[in-house]
Amino acid sequence: MKPIKVGLLGIGTVGSGTFEVLKRNQEEIKRRAGRGIEIVMVADLNTARAKELVGNACEVVNDANQVVNHPDIDIVVELIGGYGIAKELVLKAIANGKHVVTANKALLAIHGTEIFKAAQDKGVMVAFEAAVAGGIPIIKALREGLTANRIQWIAGIINGTTNFILSEMRDKGLDFDTVLKEAQRLGYAEADPTFDIEGIDAAHKATIMSAIAFGIPVQFDKAHVEGITKLQATDIRYAEQLGYRIKLLGITRRTEQGIELRVHPTLIPAKRLIANVEGAMNAVLVQGDAVGATLYYGKGAGAEPTASAVIADLVDITRLATADPEHRVPHLAFQPDAMADTPV
Ligand code: NDP
Ligand code: HSE
Repeated sequence: MKPIKVGLLGIGTVGSGTFEVLKRNQEEIKRRAGRGIEIVMVADLNTARAKELVGNACEVVNDANQVVNHPDIDIVVELIGGYGIAKELVLKAIANGKHVVTANKALLAIHGTEIFKAAQDKGVMVAFEAAVAGGIPIIKALREGLTANRIQWIAGIINGTTNFILSEMRDKGLDFDTVLKEAQRLGYAEADPTFDIEGIDAAHKATIMSAIAFGIPVQFDKAHVEGITKLQATDIRYAEQLGYRIKLLGITRRTEQGIELRVHPTLIPAKRLIANVEGAMNAVLVQGDAVGATLYYGKGAGAEPTASAVIADLVDITRLATADPEHRVPHLAFQPDAMADTPV
């Protein structure tokens, strides 16, 4: 069977990781997907850097519209970020009948309902494993592994940058700005790091998990959001002396009043597993009524961990796109019509 054709929008940290892992593991990936997955076109503003990265493997263009309008491309991978041009391109790709993979939690937390509705109307898939907790397959766990459960709550360290900052401040006594710069250098931070340090990125991710777990629309505007910028080195030290660690947690849970959705620094007893999640690692605890508590742990940011999730989505879509559309299980998209408007 011919390879499925992919167009990549943005070849920065995650895009270059995706390109690299897809090339390195192409044989295994092909076997698992049932056919090859081939990046045929890359769009990036910096075409010189992009050409250096991809060599002669595929065409490089400056205008992302060339990718979303390309008649031979089956799947568009959006790795630009933000709500602006990314939204326009994703909606255009869907309108052109292309499946979409994105790591863009900001886009989905704000415009997810509109995007998934457009995809449903057009009969294409939108997959977003990389949007929450980097390399941890938490979307798959919520949607597939835990599908028998009534989810009661989810709580997790879901921002690598802030966890890295808190860990380095505690362990090495480094100051906030120095560690943030290092997180940027390592490719963990968002283009606008305010999203990380003010808790917005974690709230985007908690919003997405909440929508999946509780079958509600994405409602980022209802989240309580507090970041780590008001924390000082002394807070971290005092917490340590009292036997606690401070972690930025994203929490969503069922209450009698509706679904709660919040992000804030939290004191956790030092002996708890989640208190010992260090650096850019993420950990998500999910409580289901049948399974009880489950814990997912792994790298929450960075080029290849995130690429791992992007490629998992590419493989899923390739398998499903190859099947007869009537026999596809629409588990990769939200189902907006089925959502109850539960207050948050
Ligand atoms: P980068 O900034 O490293 O990469 C984005 C790339 O897109 C850059 O090369 C940028 O070019 C390019 N770009 C910007 N605008 C356009 C445009 N109009 N057309 C084509 N290309 C464009 O970001 P990341 O790779 O870190 O993040 C990408 C997405 O993945 C974001 O949504 C982010 O939130 C998400 N994500 C990131 C993770 C990480 O660890 N970094 C983890 C999980 C998700 P230029 O540099 O010239 O502006
Ligand atoms: N900026 C994000 C983080 C990237 O630090 O967790 C992964 O989503």
